Amino acid sequence: MSEAKTHKITLIPGDGIGPEVTQAVLRILEATGVKFEWERFAAGAEAFEIHGEYIPAALYESIARNRVALKGPVTTPIGGGFKSINVTLRKKFDLFANFRPVRALPGLETKWPGVDLIIVRENTEGEYVGLEHEVVPGVVESIKVISEKGSTRIARFAFEYARKHGRKKIHSIHKANIMKLSDGLFLRCARAVSEEFPDIQYGEHLIDNTCMQLVMNPFQYDTLLLENLYGDIVSDLCAGLVGGLGLVPGANLGTECAIFEAVHGSAPDIAGKNLANPTALLQSAILMLRHLDESTAADKVQKALETIYSERKTLTRDVGGAAGTTQFADAVLSAMG
Ligand code: NAI
Repeated sequence: MSEAKTHKITLIPGDGIGPEVTQAVLRILEATGVKFEWERFAAGAEAFEIHGEYIPAALYESIARNRVALKGPVTTPIGGGFKSINVTLRKKFDLFANFRPVRALPGLETKWPGVDLIIVRENTEGEYVGLEHEVVPGVVESIKVISEKGSTRIARFAFEYARKHGRKKIHSIHKANIMKLSDGLFLRCARAVSEEFPDIQYGEHLIDNTCMQLVMNPFQYDTLLLENLYGDIVSDLCAGLVGGLGLVPGANLGTECAIFEAVHGSAPDIAGKNLANPTALLQSAILMLRHLDESTAADKVQKALETIYSERKTLTRDVGGAAGTTQFADAVLSAMG
């Protein structure tokens, strides 16, 4: 641990349950002893009200300068309105790899105890390029972009991660029977990269079959490599395997910057009620600590989190407990000693 270093981090609490889970996570991070200086920003509808911009210029500058951000969820209007803040930030900073480890926590009763999957989602292309237009009234075209460069670099990210962390198997998940050109290119790139990694098993499954296989027997998979939209959907499915969206963390990684955020959204149904589970953002913060080379602090928080789940005394409602967001954070803090 770098004793004296202060980490300047851009902080986007977000909206909905974002501010609640962010507050819980900040209290825990401050108790690790690691020094942080937070540069806090609103984004989305809240930022528009204050600054007249959905993403203030100062927020872009802060991320570019600090190179690390911790972000809560931001609501995206459905079927119209402003563009997703999340997608915009990922594209702006070329955060091409969305890394989502899906691991069962001890003590939680789930259909499949012991699930341990890595999801690697391409984060800048596919249907998320935002190219949609009305051709004639009643007909809309939406363009999916898959490039050789984008597919190759995400495949290389997955294989390099697998080799470095002792993962054994990667499956590319696709729909190349229908999207012959786009998913076909994605597969060709993944296959070419796989040849450089003979130590990692490589397989390919259709996305529809994969969803069924994951529900029936997730243990047949290790690391899943997916295009943007497939990765988005399969992440939520996999969250369901380990106890829900309140648990699963994520990191948006590029060559320059990284934004750490949970898989879940702003959960308007439970916002402002002290009901949200901060575990997903906390586990994202643990990924951030490791990224910052603060592994002692990361281990400390991880251990406390696992203690709370093993004891099952202070869990939030989504995983069968009765504790609120703040009580859960209190429990993690006291387990940290
Ligand atoms: P959601 O992930 O917000 O909620 C889905 C379900 O999971 C809800 O029942 C919610 O209560 C529950 N849930 C989510 N997080 C939880 C937590 N930490 N603790 C306990 N329960 C939790 O997905 P939804 O409702 O489809 O989307 C809501 C909004 O969030 C939309 O505007 C969407 O665009 C946005 N969103 C933002 C993301 C981001 O900022 N990265 C990611 C996904 C969605």
